[in-house]
Amino acid sequence: MSNAKKAKQDEFYTQYVDIQKEVEAYLEFDPDTFRGKFVYCNCDDPFESNFFKYFAANFNKLGLKKLVTTSYDGSPIAGQGTLFPEYNEGNGKRQKPKALAVTLDHVKDENGDGAANIDDVKLFLKRNKAARVALKGDDEHAGGDFRSAECIALLEEADIVVTNPPFSLFREYVAQLVDHGKKFLIIGNVQAITYKEVFPLLKADKLWMGVTIHSGDREFRVPDHYPLDAAGCRVDENGVKYIRVKGVRWYTNLDHGRRHQILPLMTVEDNLRFSKHKEINGKAAYDRYDNYDAIEVPFTDAIPGDYDGVMGVPVTFLDKYNPDQFEILGYEKSYHLQTRKYGAQVQIDKSGKKSNVTKLNDGAAIKVDRPPADQTYYVVDDGYYIQQYKRIFIRRRARSAKGAKK
Ligand SMILES: C[S@@+](CC[C@H](N)C(=O)[O-])C[C@H]1O[C@@H](n2cnc3c(N)ncnc32)[C@H](O)[C@@H]1O
Repeated sequence: MSNAKKAKQDEFYTQYVDIQKEVEAYLEFDPDTFRGKFVYCNCDDPFESNFFKYFAANFNKLGLKKLVTTSYDGSPIAGQGTLFPEYNEGNGKRQKPKALAVTLDHVKDENGDGAANIDDVKLFLKRNKAARVALKGDDEHAGGDFRSAECIALLEEADIVVTNPPFSLFREYVAQLVDHGKKFLIIGNVQAITYKEVFPLLKADKLWMGVTIHSGDREFRVPDHYPLDAAGCRVDENGVKYIRVKGVRWYTNLDHGRRHQILPLMTVEDNLRFSKHKEINGKAAYDRYDNYDAIEVPFTDAIPGDYDGVMGVPVTFLDKYNPDQFEILGYEKSYHLQTRKYGAQVQIDKSGKKSNVTKLNDGAAIKVDRPPADQTYYVVDDGYYIQQYKRIFIRRRARSAKGAKK
């Protein structure tokens, strides 16, 4: 990916309401999730980030012990201060350091209006210059880089890390959190599910999907210079630019109620007779893969509740995953689960173009009787095959089987 493209993808700013909805979902499950905790937002300009704003405004409600937010020297908007413009010292000449750590260890009624809220945070920051410390970085990292020694020292002290980190560094970012044994609630792309740094954590129940974002897209603010050529862009009445981003998810290791809900499912027989999906309804049986000992289940709501074998399901199944109901065994590149390796393969795309490939071995394949009309297929030794898009292999747990069996 080009650096420009990376930089663009890294500069999406999360909306307050998206943070609020997600954090509050954990409180419904355990009101003390954040009580007495040190929350660290390590990819967040405190004067820009709604993560800072949300946690500062709700400091007392959540019962936080401490909130630290660090901004990154490479951020194009660092130091511009649109959340708290009155702190934009230097008349836009950016005399304020771009990378800084802001620490709050209490929020009290600074202005004496009877409430302790974001206005008091503003006043606190104005009165307490010491609450801001410039970050210098080190030999290898710019100031505020989450990998810099200064930020790692803060991370070690923190209890829960909450942020939307740079997309291009997601793998490294998650690995660092896990290496330091931290609790976290972070935003990432749904594609990250099958990253080799992420999938083993999902499988081992050390990381799971959050509560509030399961489909569709979310609107993020983008820097002023962002080219609004993509579909789904808008500029608000203040000239602030927004873009809609697809495939966004919360990733966390904080417990929540959704992951303890049992996914209601029909039996194999009922799915084959009554499924709303034409791919299942009316079939004699679910398709089986040719190279995995598993059935193909193309939709989460078509998972049969009484099937004991292995099932290949879309990655979006993880939005509904309850670790007491199902066990995750692998994904389409879990080569050790493969029962067959293909030799010479010819791929024929929708336009009829032929190429010699090896990629049939990189996914779940289904043998078909004849070449499909409207999709890419593969020919191996005169046999025809189609490959399913990303799949996760799951099996139901014995405990949940009880109710489902007749
Ligand atoms: C996707 S944006 C999200 C910003 C903010 N967390 C929010 O949600 O509004 C990621 C932020 O991380 C910053 N960033 C990029 N590389 C970083 C690094 N190595 N260390 C810390 N922050 C970084 C970017 O400049 C950007 O501001």
